[in-house]
Amino acid sequence: MGCCFSVGLKIESSRLDGKVTSASVPPSPRSQAEILQSGDLKPFSFNVLKMATRNFRPDSVLGEGGFGSVFKGWIDEQSLAAAKPGTGTVIAVKRLNQEGLQGHQEWLTEINYLGLLNHPNLVKLIGYCLEDDHRMLVYEFMPRGSLENHLFRRSSYFQPLSWNLRIKVALGAAKGLAYLHSPEAKVIYRDFKSSNILIDSSYNAKLSDFGLAKDGPVDGKSYVSTRVMGTYGYAAPEYMATGHLTAKSDIYSFGVVLLEILTGRRCIDKNRPTGEQKLVEFAKPYLTSKRRILQIMDPRLSGQYSPNVAMRAALLATKCLLKDPKHRPSADEVVKSLDQLQDLQKAADVSRREPIRKHGDGKLVYYPRPAGSGSGSGSGSGSGSS
Ligand SMILES: Nc1ncnc2c1ncn2[C@@H]1O[C@H](COP(=O)(O)OP(=O)(O)O)[C@@H](O)[C@H]1O
Ligand SMILES: [Mg+2]
Repeated sequence: MGCCFSVGLKIESSRLDGKVTSASVPPSPRSQAEILQSGDLKPFSFNVLKMATRNFRPDSVLGEGGFGSVFKGWIDEQSLAAAKPGTGTVIAVKRLNQEGLQGHQEWLTEINYLGLLNHPNLVKLIGYCLEDDHRMLVYEFMPRGSLENHLFRRSSYFQPLSWNLRIKVALGAAKGLAYLHSPEAKVIYRDFKSSNILIDSSYNAKLSDFGLAKDGPVDGKSYVSTRVMGTYGYAAPEYMATGHLTAKSDIYSFGVVLLEILTGRRCIDKNRPTGEQKLVEFAKPYLTSKRRILQIMDPRLSGQYSPNVAMRAALLATKCLLKDPKHRPSADEVVKSLDQLQDLQKAADVSRREPIRKHGDGKLVYYPRPAGSGSGSGSGSGSGSS
């Protein structure tokens, strides 16, 4: 989890992961009853979710966030009753572990957005629980967890993602963002970070955690004025300084996540030497040339990427991180760049595998030549990636 904050008029309560938000989130124009009737959302009783998660067993915790813990559970999709583990439909249950209005508001905000929005790159909200003090959200289960786990957690369960899968996940997340920013949805996500990007069994990325989402500006305005909320390290500097929120604030955060993907470093890492703790500051001087970029690429990706593609990805991150939000690309442009980048990498992978001519001595020559072949074409890529 990142280190989160709220600066502004009044801090009213703090979240578990250090994220601090305000109780005075403006009320949604829709009433609570209307929001809860959104789309196809199912109301669940506390008892059903308690049984479905086997009494919120600690060993079924999928993750922890500012809102609370997320548990794995099983339900029968037809009757919506709790099912035996391993049968029926797998769900993820997010349980608010904090009292008060602010938690309730975030819970309602998430339902307000996810209940209505529908896109292959957004996690699906199945239903909710509102009973006494209990506030829960029931989502489709995402078997491969979060991007954060795959990038930073060292365990046999979460293998480091290959380069091609990193591009796939970045592209999926960018498509989710492009949908949110589209005229159809017009939503600013406000909490784009690797722990909020979830991955399904085929490595499709889906955005989750809409507790801080916000309607985009209306009536010809260029920004929404808000109290500053988000996560340190990911939030755009101009948003932190002024509270002026635009879709380009999300693009800045995308740039930070792209840097995490390229380098395998967390956006803020207190365990690194001074000067390397803030990823954006640390990485900037390296983003200027191919040679320098290669110095900060995640060493676990060695041999998987074409240096040209890595260079383009770094250039895209640099554009997303530009100081002036107007100069940052739109989410649609980010999708386009990543699509091209994916095609380029595929082409590089193919040419790397196929010998295109024979030397006089009968040896097969690959183009570009695999790294270490002696006369170096500069491909730098020897092995295939999944
Ligand atoms: N649908 C899901 N499937 C699998 N794991 C999930 C799911 N939703 C959340 N998680 C895990 O729980 C963590 C916290 O969830 P999140 O929705 O971001 O909560 P918070 O609002 O508390 O930050 C995620 O980073 C992820 O590891
Ligand atoms: Mg989260």
